[in-house]
Amino acid sequence: MGGAATTTYKRLASLLAAKSSHDPTVEVAIMNGLTTNLHLGMYAVESQIRHHQYDPAVSLITIGPRLDEHTIRKEDVLAKISEEGHSIALVLFSGVQYITGQFFNIEAIIKAAHSKGCYVGIDLAHAIGNVELHLTDWGVDFACWCNYKYMNGGPGSIGGFYLHKKHAQDFTIPRFLGWWAHRSETRFDMTNCK
Ligand SMILES: Cc1ncc(COP(=O)(O)O)c(C=O)c1O
Repeated sequence: MGGAATTTYKRLASLLAAKSSHDPTVEVAIMNGLTTNLHLGMYAVESQIRHHQYDPAVSLITIGPRLDEHTIRKEDVLAKISEEGHSIALVLFSGVQYITGQFFNIEAIIKAAHSKGCYVGIDLAHAIGNVELHLTDWGVDFACWCNYKYMNGGPGSIGGFYLHKKHAQDFTIPRFLGWWAHRSETRFDMTNCK
C-alpha cells in the first residue's frame, strides 16, 4: 500500500483503536457504502432474515425506550440479552443511537452478548469521529460506518468495515471470498476452470 493510503489507514485505525498494518490480522477496510457493509457483516436486518428463510416477526428482537420514556435503558438491553441470548445469533447495536443520541457502555453490552455466545456488530454511523472507540480491546466482532457524517467525507464518500483480528484467520466461519480468493500463492491459478 502506498504512503498516502497507509497514512489514511493509520489515522482511521487510531480513531477506532484498531490494528492497521500489513499483518494478516489487519482489521480495517475502507470499502463500499454503509448499507452494503451492513449486509456483508450481516444486517440491513429484515431482508437478511428473510434471505436466510426466517420470519422477521419471529427472528427479529428489537429494543426501545419504555412507555413514556425517550431513552433506552442500559439495564433493559442487558436484561434482554440475558433472557434471550441463548437463541440470539447476532446482537446488532448502535455506536451512538441515532434517534436518542445515547452512547452506551458498548463494552458491557459486548461482554453480556459474548457470555451468551452471540456475535456483536456495531453500526458506527454516528459514532466514528464523534466518540472514543476501542473496538479491538472491547472485542466487538464487526463494525461498519459511513464517512460522510462526523468524518466529513462528503456525499459519495465510501464506507468502512472492521473485523476483529480474532476472526481474521478463522476459516471455520463461512465467508464470502474475493475474486479468485486472496491467497497469493494460489490466486489466479483458476484450477477449477476447464
Ligand atoms: C445509523 C445508520 N445506519 C445506516 C445508515 C445507512 O447509510 P447508507 O445510506 O450510507 O448506506 C445510516 C444513514 O444515515 C445511519 O444513520
